[in-house]
Amino acid sequence: MTQPTANSIPSETNFNHSTTSLNSFAPRLLDWFAENGRHDLPWQQHQTDTPNPYVVWLSEVMLQQTQVTTVLPYFARFMESFPSVQDLAAAEWDLVAEHWAGLGYYARARNLHKGAKQLAEIIDETGDFPQTLAGWEAISGVGPSTAGAIMAMGLHKYGVICDGNVKRVLTRWAAIEGDITKSATTKTLWALAERLTPVDDSGRFAQAMMDMGATLCTRSKPACLLCPLQEDCLAHAQGRETDYPVKAKKQPKPSKFSNALIIKDTDGKILWLQRPDNGIWGGLWSLPLQFIEKVDGKANTKATVKKTLASDDKPSNTANDVRSHEKVYETEFTTAEQIIHEWLIKNELVTESVSKSLLDDAPIKHSLTHFHWYLTPRSVTLDNKQITALSTALQAAEINIHWLTADDARATLGLPRAMVKILEQ
Ligand code: ADE
Ligand code: SF4
Repeated sequence: MTQPTANSIPSETNFNHSTTSLNSFAPRLLDWFAENGRHDLPWQQHQTDTPNPYVVWLSEVMLQQTQVTTVLPYFARFMESFPSVQDLAAAEWDLVAEHWAGLGYYARARNLHKGAKQLAEIIDETGDFPQTLAGWEAISGVGPSTAGAIMAMGLHKYGVICDGNVKRVLTRWAAIEGDITKSATTKTLWALAERLTPVDDSGRFAQAMMDMGATLCTRSKPACLLCPLQEDCLAHAQGRETDYPVKAKKQPKPSKFSNALIIKDTDGKILWLQRPDNGIWGGLWSLPLQFIEKVDGKANTKATVKKTLASDDKPSNTANDVRSHEKVYETEFTTAEQIIHEWLIKNELVTESVSKSLLDDAPIKHSLTHFHWYLTPRSVTLDNKQITALSTALQAAEINIHWLTADDARATLGLPRAMVKILEQ
């Protein structure tokens, strides 16, 4: 038996199902999709003869880590403001960031903007969107599954998808025990996805697989009784649907504690900083943050988190207390935050809790890819002279700032979701 390679078609003996089962997978799925699938999602292109790859690319990037219901209004606003890839490519980053604000994983928005510029250039040179899988994979933010989705659904050419939803369906249907974070399992799953995808109807098949994964074969409560794959689903036969996919346990995430400074003037206008382009929330607007400490994932039990937040030596009580170990200080404070932190100390200004609870500052927990972030809002009100002095110090360092009320900031700046959560407190 020869080993399958990425491009060869493996012999049927590599699969856990008979040829009959493998061959009938697509027709069963497509019949189910025709009867019970979603056909009214605004980015779907299976009912038109003139598919729009821009729409599929944009929606797929938005849907990479976000659910359909969340994406719908964002997608509508993007299409309204940037009806073509050229419009998106020509837009200022601030405007794109503002449209993205709240969807999370900002690297996706930066890739999207960069990708739009790459695509506009390719269209300028060739007169059309990329027409090959490799052409799409070369676009910023487009991985193999997104590229397959665009080929299949956006161009009505042949393309195979194998994203998280597909992996869940296939590991269950074929009882694939391997850890899906391992490359050997990924290879097996791609080979199976390729074997099952009908060459002449891969777009509809891709859309049907996504629907199956999202509506029937869901993570915690698969609706096997309604499933067109039930009769030969190996996980269902074992009664072990939710044991798949097998995924190695991740290390617990570390926790980071910061103050979010609400620096106000007497009219309630607040100081907003634009984050540096690199690093978290690049290019978005945020309250100045004051790093307190980081607790690693293993030590990071509920009890430690509580203790850190409640401890007497909690460094949030005065600006002076923040632990300014030099190296940490440089990596955890942006230039603007260093200026503010030192200015507060020099002027002997102390921030106050804004919590409504008397017992504790109520921090906002915000979970990101690599850590949980506990943000505690603290406020300080400055007089006009102080406002001028602080603004001058920041502007001298060429830092972009705004003094805006919470409502105006929400309406006019691209704010990360964590900031919106703080304003809602
Ligand atoms: N998830 C990722 N892509 C999708 C699509 N095109 N339709 C529904 N859910 C999806
Ligand atoms: Fe998923 Fe159940 Fe269908 Fe198997 S039978 S593919 S577990 S929904």
